[in-house]
Amino acid sequence: MKIGVPKEIKNHEYRVGLTPASVAELVAAGHEVLVETKAGMGIDFDDTAYTKVGAKIAPEAAAVFADSDMIVKVKEPQPGEIAMLEPRHLLFTYLHLAADKPQAEGLMKSGATCIAYETVTSNSGALPLLKPMSEVAGRMSVQVASHYLEKEQGGRGELLGGVPGVAPCKVAILGGGVSGINAAQMAVGQRADVTIYDISNERLAELDMHFGSQIKTAYASKAAIAEAVARSQVVIGAVLVPGAAAPKLVTREMLGTMMRGSVLVDIAIDQGGCFETSHATTHDDPVYEVDGVIHYCVANMPGAVARTSAFALNNATLPFVLRLANLGAEAAMKADRHLANGLNVYKGKIAFKAVADDLDLPYEAWA
Ligand SMILES: NC(=O)c1ccc[n+]([C@@H]2O[C@H](COP(=O)([O-])OP(=O)(O)OC[C@H]3O[C@@H](n4cnc5c(N)ncnc54)[C@H](O)[C@@H]3O)[C@@H](O)[C@H]2O)c1
Repeated sequence: MKIGVPKEIKNHEYRVGLTPASVAELVAAGHEVLVETKAGMGIDFDDTAYTKVGAKIAPEAAAVFADSDMIVKVKEPQPGEIAMLEPRHLLFTYLHLAADKPQAEGLMKSGATCIAYETVTSNSGALPLLKPMSEVAGRMSVQVASHYLEKEQGGRGELLGGVPGVAPCKVAILGGGVSGINAAQMAVGQRADVTIYDISNERLAELDMHFGSQIKTAYASKAAIAEAVARSQVVIGAVLVPGAAAPKLVTREMLGTMMRGSVLVDIAIDQGGCFETSHATTHDDPVYEVDGVIHYCVANMPGAVARTSAFALNNATLPFVLRLANLGAEAAMKADRHLANGLNVYKGKIAFKAVADDLDLPYEAWA
């Protein structure tokens, strides 16, 4: 198959759909890969890194789209990219269509087969192509919190892990899923005093087994969260209710009980955020203060560590890219129901029920 990798054009997006290592695997499997010039420049993959492993370089995105059957990207296609999609194309990337009707309608009009990373499933019912980005965001959340606790950044002037003779900061992690456990691992590594709150008793038991005495766990009742907020220097929001807006666990009122210069990191901001006072921010201007409490609410945290994120994403996507390239979209989806769950748009119709319902567009099952 001919596989195309355009340069990402969304603002501040430096990740790339295929790393040179992934291209090498595809070339070894007998496929042709066409990469837009400078596609990997932002994360130190120059064109030579791609030609060395057998890719061809295209001078512009139009040439990539014109000469490829499958397009592998990171972010949802922008209007100019949608205009280049045709019915013969297979698009494999993050789409997040439920919140983006113009994109959904554009993809329907294109006639292309569009498989979204975020709805591909695994045997355990998890979302394996979202997981690496939650891992990145979870680990980053503690790094970011430590930074903003510094006096220069407007924080309390406290070191997360303290020093001998000075107590470490208290870190409350709301939600102990993928991002929550990764945040906890980093916070424990920095010797913070960590408590994870969740409403799943099963998950709390797993976390207890995993960390032993390194952390505490608590059921996420309103009272427990109120208490946590009042005594923690860092609160990390990492909850997810699949398919729904994040619950507002920390109210405006609770915020008033927090110490001045403490830090909230709302990882769940992409689902609306779990603090009442959260609103989405960008890497250009990542924080703001309410009641003297620093809020970090960047909706695409992994973008800040684009190189790590590109590798992590490719580790997860490559097996699916190979299957799609080897078998073609339809046969690959017939052979793997988890990949088929990724199908969002097919032959001009929305093929994912929840997206069709959310956008009030007609749904048609693909097979
Ligand atoms: N901001 C970013 O850049 C970024 C990056 C990656 C992921 N995310 C987002 O982070 C959020 C978390 O993702 P994840 O992969 O860790 O999810 P996950 O499903 O692995 O974990 C979510 C956890 O939240 C718990 N939970 C649900 N409701 C709760 C409540 N009321 N109180 C306490 N716990 C509750 C669940 O039991 C689960 O353990 C999602 O919204 C995801 O989209 C954001």
